[in-house]
Amino acid sequence: MVETEESIEIAFSEKRVKYFFNHPLSALHQLTDPLNTVVITDDNLVSLHPELRNHQLIVIPAGEQHKQQVTVDDIISQLINFEATRQTWVVGVGGGVVTDIAGYAASVYMRGLRYGFVPTTVLAQVDAAIGGKNGIDAGLYKNIIGVIRQPEFILFDHELLQTLPDEQWINGFAEIIKHAAIADAEMFEMLEAHTLQDYRTNPALLAELIQRNALLKSDFVQRDEFEKGDRKKLNFGHTLGHAVENLYSLPHGFAVSIGMVAAASLSMRRTGFPQSDYDRLIAVLKGYGLPVDLEADGTEVMKLLKMDKKRVSDQISVILLNRIGESVIQPIPVTELEAFCTETFNS
Ligand SMILES: NC(=O)c1ccc[n+]([C@@H]2O[C@H](COP(=O)([O-])OP(=O)(O)OC[C@H]3O[C@@H](n4cnc5c(N)ncnc54)[C@H](O)[C@@H]3O)[C@@H](O)[C@H]2O)c1
Repeated sequence: MVETEESIEIAFSEKRVKYFFNHPLSALHQLTDPLNTVVITDDNLVSLHPELRNHQLIVIPAGEQHKQQVTVDDIISQLINFEATRQTWVVGVGGGVVTDIAGYAASVYMRGLRYGFVPTTVLAQVDAAIGGKNGIDAGLYKNIIGVIRQPEFILFDHELLQTLPDEQWINGFAEIIKHAAIADAEMFEMLEAHTLQDYRTNPALLAELIQRNALLKSDFVQRDEFEKGDRKKLNFGHTLGHAVENLYSLPHGFAVSIGMVAAASLSMRRTGFPQSDYDRLIAVLKGYGLPVDLEADGTEVMKLLKMDKKRVSDQISVILLNRIGESVIQPIPVTELEAFCTETFNS
């Protein structure tokens, strides 16, 4: 694999992962042996980026509903048809669905092939491709099957984002705002000073933001690869977010936005998170096109919350903010959350 000026190595416990920022997709030819590489992507990407056809290709149907074992089975039979061996590279080119499933298939085929990612959504560039969590859903149970295994490299081609639909940009920015809120007050100020349109039209500004977020997430993962402590902070807004996402079929970023507002409101009661910071969070979320309220059934939300993986007996760990840029993990009694949900959603 080549080293370039814009490649950075991040050391995880199992291996060092190379991040190639600002590299075109065509640089893939220099990173892996093209004759021994299989690219996995989805059908949307192949039609939008026909240059992908220059690779040995496995195309999966786009969408979360296909992040299932049946798609892995299909990938594996195609790898067999390609006569893939332990020397073969797998490269996932796509959003989080593609990277999750490609990383998983590469990890189980012949007990593990080397693999890399070219994330093509904002969400995948700042979040899904980073950290080594790969996996699939089982029916409605999200990410319930999987492994933690790092890729060899991640190549960031910001140009690929130009074909991304508006909703996917907004989705990705929910995670960026989350990163800023939990750990990077300076980035929060940058987000306040700019608009989504600024980032969409200024490649240098976008590249800087993506890199900052990719490194921020990597830092959390490096410190806590197996999610025993600090990495949990990346779940800010996700506990309640997942509940409303499933209940009301909201786009992930929209649900996380609602979840962040609820967690920020709970923070005001529990940590002294200032009202002025709460107002700033609301303003940034709205500014980037994200919803900040939802008509929901608090009892139904609570039913789902009680099923949360993070529940331990009668408490659920929730990520709260002390202030913008500083977060804390607090176990909260289910009864308190019940009262909070009833008040927040049934009013
Ligand atoms: N492994 C992790 O740590 C982690 C973290 C966060 C999210 N995830 C997973 O990521 C998934 C969500 O990722 P996502 O939002 O990227 O979804 P996605 O992969 O479904 O992509 C969203 C849509 O955008 C399309 N698309 C992708 N790139 C495009 C481009 N450049 N131009 C035009 N269209 C494009 C896709 O075909 C798809 O229709 C979920 O399955 C989630 O569980 C994983």
